[in-house]
Amino acid sequence: MTETAVETAERKLYIESYGCAMNFSDSEIIASIMGEHGFATTKNEFDADVIFLNTCAIRDNAEQRIRERLKHLRANKKQNRDLIIGVLGCMAERLKDKLLEEEKLVDVVAGPDSYRELPKLVAEVDEGGRAINVLLSREETYGDLNPVRLNSNGVTAFISIMRGCDNMCSFCVVPFTRGRERSRDPKSILREARELASAGYKEIILLGQNVDSYLWFGGGPKKEFKNLTEEEKACSVDFAELLGMAALAVPGLRIRYSTSHPRDITEKVVHTMAKYKNVCNYIHLPAQSGNSRVLDVMSRNYTREWYMDKVRMIRNILPDCGISCDIIAGFCSETEEEHQDTLSLMEWARFDFSYMYKYSERPGTPAAKKLTDDVPEDLKGRRLQEIIALQNEVSKAKNQEYIGKVVEVLVESESKRSSEEWMGRNDQNVVTVFPKANFQKGNLVKVLVESASTTTLRGKAIG
Ligand code: SAH
Ligand code: SF4
Ligand code: F3S
Repeated sequence: MTETAVETAERKLYIESYGCAMNFSDSEIIASIMGEHGFATTKNEFDADVIFLNTCAIRDNAEQRIRERLKHLRANKKQNRDLIIGVLGCMAERLKDKLLEEEKLVDVVAGPDSYRELPKLVAEVDEGGRAINVLLSREETYGDLNPVRLNSNGVTAFISIMRGCDNMCSFCVVPFTRGRERSRDPKSILREARELASAGYKEIILLGQNVDSYLWFGGGPKKEFKNLTEEEKACSVDFAELLGMAALAVPGLRIRYSTSHPRDITEKVVHTMAKYKNVCNYIHLPAQSGNSRVLDVMSRNYTREWYMDKVRMIRNILPDCGISCDIIAGFCSETEEEHQDTLSLMEWARFDFSYMYKYSERPGTPAAKKLTDDVPEDLKGRRLQEIIALQNEVSKAKNQEYIGKVVEVLVESESKRSSEEWMGRNDQNVVTVFPKANFQKGNLVKVLVESASTTTLRGKAIG
């Protein structure tokens, strides 16, 4: 969760973002749209005429947090009766008009593809109504807009390269909240990258739910390459090509991207990473489970062996590539042995770090409709703890392998613990902290690693 920057204009907007990087990136698009209609963003919620919560629906606890936040916002509304409160993003899309019924203080409900309508929706509320737009689009990419960089450290910026997801993993609500997959025009992506470079940014992160399925062929809903017309093929750009174009467009910037899908990641992408020095050696490659039967029930469209082959392929081409993972503990029908397979995959792959969750059933998903959420809560909890304990052990051991080595760190901000230290990330995305000396935010600094914990490398700058 985070709030936003920038001051003064006619009316003030406060945006709070929850969930994944794509949602944070969307908040920057929202600020841009509202900015063109006389709203400046504020960091102070008590100063705001409009408060937008850009929400996440991925797990039940994500939605519970928003409900709690809405309860607190009642107090703001008591103080300022004209205050407009909007719920945007994935929870808005999931609950649609139910949200207006359930949460009486909410004035605006807007889904991820309706942000161009927000000024109109707010105007409807000004007229005394409540307003909703949750239409999903097959084309919208907001490609022409200039996102207002909110809460940015001035060093790293997100660029959305696609929207939606066509995968239908059985546990996942995203295809329902974000609609059909569509890719954004590479010209507008490169324009945004160049503008960020001119504005002094040092790193861009290309975002999509499944970047390996990025394919530009003139716009509109996703198609497979083999189904393109000759004309579409001629102008087509896939993810590896986009990555190469971005690397050349902004040679002085670091480039990262997220998220890769184990089914779709190609050698071509990994070779592109190897070819361009400014593309970071780091891949987020969620496995979700280490057992082929569970992966099948999850509709992930790959097996344990397929996943292992992809990890081998990556390490073969890029031996020092950082790899991180997402894991779900206690998915429907998961047995103890199948859980052990997840642990053994983690041991084998030695992920640099992982995001680990208990399975949370989401209404309307294929799993909610066809499967039973039958792993008891306490068992899910125990499995998750085992997964976390193993990952912590591996992360610590892997980080300790850096001791005595030199890593290149892009300085992002002051370290949380000390104003005497900088914090940044190395090529593999591992957080690294070192004494400031004469270095500045945005510098690329060589750091000799002296110690390491589960999450952080510490060392001293050597140039
Ligand atoms: N597009 C990405 C994931 C986006 S959601 C991918 O395919 O990997 C981020 C992560 O949330 C997922 O990788 C998954 O681990 C987790 N997640 C999604 N739905 C979930 C659910 N119903 N319960 C628990 N975790 C879930
Ligand atoms: Fe969800 Fe699967 Fe799409 Fe990721 S790839 S967003 S997990 S449906
Ligand atoms: Fe959450 Fe929506 Fe992202 S459900 S994880 S904010 S795509």
